[in-house]
Amino acid sequence: MADLRDAGLREGITEVIATTYSISGEPNAAPVGIHNEAGRYCVALYRGSKTLSNVKATMQLAANVTDDAVLFVRTLLDNPEASDFSRFHGFPVLRNANSWILFRCREIEERADYLLFMLNPLAVAILNKKTCAVNRGLNAVIEAAILASRYDIQISADVRERIKEQIRDYARIVERCGGRSEKEAMRILIQRFV
Ligand SMILES: Cc1cc2nc3c(=O)[nH]c(=O)nc-3n(C[C@H](O)[C@H](O)[C@H](O)COP(=O)(O)O)c2cc1C
Repeated sequence: MADLRDAGLREGITEVIATTYSISGEPNAAPVGIHNEAGRYCVALYRGSKTLSNVKATMQLAANVTDDAVLFVRTLLDNPEASDFSRFHGFPVLRNANSWILFRCREIEERADYLLFMLNPLAVAILNKKTCAVNRGLNAVIEAAILASRYDIQISADVRERIKEQIRDYARIVERCGGRSEKEAMRILIQRFV
């Protein structure tokens, strides 16, 4: 088994796109953070998501490593096209991921708003070994997407307004530092939330 750091999972929390499937075999994709503390991998899945209900049903999840800003935003707002998935022994993974790690999940903690799962790797594929320097535009898209993912659950108009302001601040960073993918991802977020 490859060292999962070679597949892109860093120490701390790495933002990836989780793919799962439902009991009826429907694939799903959504951004999640994979926690790595001294080689121990876990994921906290908030209640109400398809990802959580799929993991509860199948006890498996693939972490797809990508730096594609548009894919993060598209999988946050919608499920990708069927053609965006490929299959590993029937399990859905993202065709354009740089790497993916298929995990077996074991529930280790239940909280009011999330369930915590320990992750044990079953298979790893490194499809594209490209190296990526830090880009503030991509980081800003990820921060804005996290804010956007909390927008709909807010009932306070003040909090919603504050989220919009923060997204606009991140949009300014993307304008200055991002490439085409980051600018397109931010355009989608602004159109939907601001
Ligand atoms: C960068 C990023 C990281 C996220 N990390 C998590 C996470 O670790 N756990 C979680 O439950 N939701 C996380 N979310 C929110 C989910 O992606 C979001 O609720 C999504 O709509 C769930 O989709 P689903 O219903 O298709 O599973 C994250 C969102 C973003 C943009």
